[in-house]
Amino acid sequence: MKNIIKEILLTEDQITARIKELGRMITEDYKGKNLMLVGILKGAVIFMAELAKNIDMPVLMDFMAVSSYGKSSTSTGIVRIVKDLDCSVEDKDILIVEDIIDTGLTLSYLTDNLKKRRAKSVKIVTLLDKPERRKTEVPVDYIGFKIPDEFVVGYGLDYAEQYRNLPYVAALKEGVYSSKTDNVVF
Ligand code: PRP
Ligand code: MN
Ligand code: MG
Repeated sequence: MKNIIKEILLTEDQITARIKELGRMITEDYKGKNLMLVGILKGAVIFMAELAKNIDMPVLMDFMAVSSYGKSSTSTGIVRIVKDLDCSVEDKDILIVEDIIDTGLTLSYLTDNLKKRRAKSVKIVTLLDKPERRKTEVPVDYIGFKIPDEFVVGYGLDYAEQYRNLPYVAALKEGVYSSKTDNVVF
């Protein structure tokens, strides 16, 4: 798989160490609270699993899947819930778990949506943040790493549903992806 990678931006060791720190902060901040992690499928799965292991208190874990109409430049901010939560959020302290915040449109919709369902609190933890790409302001409570505006894969992040299983975060070589055809070229 290495032939499609331009550069490893974050090694497995760097990611693991940072997730340990995030876990410690969250454990401290959520003492005595009713913490429920809400992972956003599918990108957040690997980060959520690792993060949950580093939170030293009882946590509820649930998942949502969303689909946005029109990605990238044509993004409208309209988000459709494809899979909803199984648990009620009422009186829970929700921590939304994301792999990456790009335009912020997904999270801005989700935080509003969960607040309307009368969650006690709604906060956000993301492994990666691409602040340059933001289209709407979202208050992010915990950030693993800020990264430049490059096409990244691994640790849950995909290109055309591939490379999620890489244990590190890497930038794809130009030419591997083509925004016009959406095809992976080996
Ligand atoms: C990606 C990523 C975030 C969202 C961020 O998910 O995992 O959920 O986009 O983009 P935004 O800040 O511009 O809204 P994607 O829709 O690719 O689905 P996936 O997690 O299944 O890969
Ligand atoms: Mn996602
Ligand atoms: Mg994706």
